[in-house]
This record gives sequence, structure tokens and C-alpha cells, in this order.
Amino acid sequence: MTHDDDTPRDGRKALRSQAWFGRQDKMGFYYRSFLKNSGQPHDRFEGRPVIGICNTWSELNPCNQHFRALAEHVRWGVLDAGGYPLEFPVSSLGEVTMRPTAMLFRNLAAMDVEEAIRAHPLDGVVLLMGCDKTTPALLMGAASADLPTIGVSGGPQLRGVYRGQLIGSGTNIISMSEQLRAGEVTLRDFHEAEAGMNRSAGSCMTMGTASTMASMVEALGVSLPENAAIPAADARRSLLARLSGRRIVEMVNEDLTLSKILTRPAFENAIRTLAAIGGSTNAVVHLLAIAGRIGIDLTLDDFDRLGRDVHCLVDLMPSGRFLMEDFYYAGGLPVVLRELSDRGLLHKDAPTVNGRPIGENVQSAACYNREVITPFEAPFKAEAGIAILTGNLAPNGAVIKPSAASPELMNHTGRAVVFESVEAMHHAVNDEDLDIDASCVMVLKHCGPKGYPGMAEVGNMPIPQKLLRQGVRDMVRISDARMSGTAYGTVVLHVAPEATAGGPLAFVQNGDLITLDVAARSLHLHVDEAELARRRDAWVPPVPHAERGYAKLYIDHVLQADRGADLDFLVGRTGSPVPRDNH
Ligand code: FES
Ligand code: MG
Repeated sequence: MTHDDDTPRDGRKALRSQAWFGRQDKMGFYYRSFLKNSGQPHDRFEGRPVIGICNTWSELNPCNQHFRALAEHVRWGVLDAGGYPLEFPVSSLGEVTMRPTAMLFRNLAAMDVEEAIRAHPLDGVVLLMGCDKTTPALLMGAASADLPTIGVSGGPQLRGVYRGQLIGSGTNIISMSEQLRAGEVTLRDFHEAEAGMNRSAGSCMTMGTASTMASMVEALGVSLPENAAIPAADARRSLLARLSGRRIVEMVNEDLTLSKILTRPAFENAIRTLAAIGGSTNAVVHLLAIAGRIGIDLTLDDFDRLGRDVHCLVDLMPSGRFLMEDFYYAGGLPVVLRELSDRGLLHKDAPTVNGRPIGENVQSAACYNREVITPFEAPFKAEAGIAILTGNLAPNGAVIKPSAASPELMNHTGRAVVFESVEAMHHAVNDEDLDIDASCVMVLKHCGPKGYPGMAEVGNMPIPQKLLRQGVRDMVRISDARMSGTAYGTVVLHVAPEATAGGPLAFVQNGDLITLDVAARSLHLHVDEAELARRRDAWVPPVPHAERGYAKLYIDHVLQADRGADLDFLVGRTGSPVPRDNH
């Protein structure tokens, strides 16, 4: 039995992989023979859907340490359904291991994924995604290739526990390091807590960026239901992987490509979900980038507009009390989606990878703990979503997460205390002579996409030690950086254009007055146009951080945060056709 690449299979679209394996010539010999060295029977090549299992396993990314086992479950699922699974590695991005920031490499990994999918004889792809940046990187790359694609997240870690108390990834690192600096805990306590926080495989178990992005995967319809919250260590995560392996084979037969899932309604569902889960600000940059790949015209304004009438329903750290494991036991993301759906805030007919519309998937979702997932009528926090600020300090926008901010600082005018670099900030922030008080506005420059480079998670600057001792726990902080999804505070992020690109942020000086007014969605620098123009003329742009290599390519081509910080030449999709043989 043979197929060549334009022979229909019982009326179904011909398999892309048959352009490799269906050949009865010199090239067919090449393409099949080398794969037979793993003992593959010849019928593997005779018209079975070939499924790539795109694996981000790496010991340098501890959050994805269980992905070799997870890939095996996907493999069994593909075999169950009559497909031919082929696992392949792509760059893995360890959020806490990579310098200067994993975000610098998100676009590089996305290129790796896109080209690996395009170059190989694949009909469909399963994306194994975990730690923060692997999720957007894999979705971006897969979107540009646009094969049938299903996402499987690695799942969150078990709850962090330290001396009987729940401790959350990132969130409690930040609070404990503040307590350490304030002399409230000892170094020994600190070390003990480190082991209690990370006690299983999986992603950060707060509603940080990894859990937010896993929730986005589910809300976008790219995964099977319940993908967001099943803990990494729970056997039901393995089951989800196996069922995803089975399902991708059917998706190939249905020609259910990623662009049929990633529609505008899907992105709108994701944005509303982002608000309802009090998700990470990083999702804004990532969703913009994914949308850019698939050709959906998403803007910052969409986040503000769509998130505004949504309440935050989940009482999870960093905004609340509980952790992802609790979220799963309470019913997980389907409950949140159902709450949105019941109030007309979900596009119910958005398609999902299981072949059913999202509204149908969640219509009977039951909640088992109303403390963890609150009803829409009595929300955990009424103020949700991401507020988009504009003004003369951020002409192309900036973001703030109101649910993580202090109510009393949401409308605040203060004197700027400016740091010209992250090093300058670290050097000065604990100086007892620093001229700063609780009413000041901390401003950090040159930490954006081009400036850091890679837009590091340094926007939640530490509160000066002398103010910590006075009991100050939050201040208005403004930068072109991002912040960890596990962080909190009245922190204005993603200021665009960034300082290094000559945005007005570059021209703020010590003593300038700045007004943050979240209700009015405004960020205003009280310096008149003429003075700003004078400062702009006198400005000397900083020397770029890289002369060669990927970092130079990145600095030269990265788009600003309001456009997803993708590389300009990566926006859009090429699709999967590759007509030329390799020999
Ligand atoms: Fe990997 Fe948080 S560091 S998910
Ligand atoms: Mg992070």
C-alpha cells in the first residue's frame, strides 16, 4: 500500500508525512531506511499519521524534569490510536536558571520549534510545555507552522509546605527575602523553606506565569479540558497526556489545524480568563506574540476592554491564599470558564482540540470548594484583569495588575527616584542616604526588550530597607521591565516605548512628579513638552549590550512590549509546505 502526497485517504486530506515516507524511489529509501534503525516495522510508513512529540525536557529546566515520562504517556496514546510517534527535543527555557533572562530566548526557542516542525515528516504535533517561557515559545513556533497541534502542560508542583504553612513559588521567596532583610527570619529558616517550596516536579504552583500560561492554553482551546491545574505528580496528568496522544491522531484525520483553534474568539476567551484567574502580566506579552504569529490583530486595548467587566474568581497566591493543587481539587479552570460562560462572558462556540466548542466542554463543570473558586456574584476580588495605562510617560502603553496592587496607591502622585540601570538600583536602593520616602515613585530604566536585553523580571524593585523597617510594604514602581507572575505590588510594567528605544521613560529625572491614576488608565509625567524635547535632544542612547550573536539579532529586531516583543521578521506564519527534498 502506498500513498503519495496528493492521494486522498478515504476522502481525507493526504498526509503531509507521505511526501517523505510514501515515496517508492531513492528518496523514499532515504526517508524510511534510516528510521528503521530503531526497529520500526514497514507499516509505520504506510499512511499512519506521524505525530511529533515536541519535548522541552532538560535538567537545566527543573520544572520540566518529568517530561521524559510525560512524553512516554503521549507516545502510548499515539500508538493506541494507530499513529506513529516521534519525540524530538527543542530548546528548553528554565526561568530560574537562565541569564540574563529566559525571556531573551523565547523567540529563539520559537524559531527552533517552528523550523523543527516544518523540516520534519510530521502530520501533527503534541507540545509538552511547562516552565513560563516554554509555553509561549512552543505555541508561537507551532502557530507559524500551523499543523494540527495539541498542548499538554507539565502541571504545577505539589503545594509548598514549610513548618505547617502553605508557601507559594516565587511569592514566598519575595516575602521571605524581605523578612530576611528586615531581620524577621534567620538564614537557617530561609534555607529550610527552600526545600519545602520545591518538593515535586512541575511548574511554580502559585498563579504565576507558568500556571497562567497553562490556563491560557486551556482557555484558548489548545488543550484538553483540565490541562491547567492537574498537578505534575498526579496520575491524571499522565492520563491527560495519553488522551492527548490519542486525540492528536484524530485531529490529523480531521485536519484540525492550529489556526482553526486560535481564532479571535479564542483569544478573547483567554483574555477574560486571564482576568478571572488574576493571572500574570506576562500573559499580555505572550498572547500578543502568539496572536501575531497566527494573524490575529490583538492589541493592548483588547486586554483592558475585555477584562474590565470580569471579576477575579480564584483565591490563589500571589493575590490570594491558595495554590494550584487546591485549584485542581476545587474543579480547576473548567469551573472558572463555566462562571464566565454563564454570564455571557465566554464565546461558547469557540472550537477546541477535543472537537467540541468550549461552552459545551464546561457547561456542567462543578465547583467543590467555593473558598478557592468564588462565584461571580461574590468574587474574591471585584477588580480584576490587566489595566492598560497610557500617557506622556507611556505613549504606547504600560500595564498594571490591579488585583496585586495596593488600593491606596491606585491614584497617587509622587516624586520620582530614578535608577538608570538595574545595577544602579541595586547599588543605591538600600543606601541609608538615598533621598526617598514611602510617597516617592521608583523609576527603573533600560530593562525593556532591547535594554536588558530580554525584558527581565526586575520591575518589582525591592522596597528600600530603611522604608521596610518603617513598615512600608508597597510603593509605586515604574519600569520598562516585566515582573514575575508570582510577584505583587503597585508595579507599572512594560512601559512602551522602552527607555533604550528612546521612549519618554528615558528622560525622567529625579524629582519629577509622576501621577498614576489607574481608574483613569493614565500615567503622567509632570514635565512640559518643551522641557521633554530639550532632554530628548541632549540624550545619548546607551551602548548596546551585544556586538554579535543571537543577542545582537534580538536587539536589532525585537518589537516593543505592546507588540509582544517578538522579532519583527518572525511575525506571521509560513505554514508547513516544504517542497524540496534534501538529496
Ligand atoms: Fe519554572 Fe516557575 S520557575 S515554572
Ligand atoms: Mg518568571
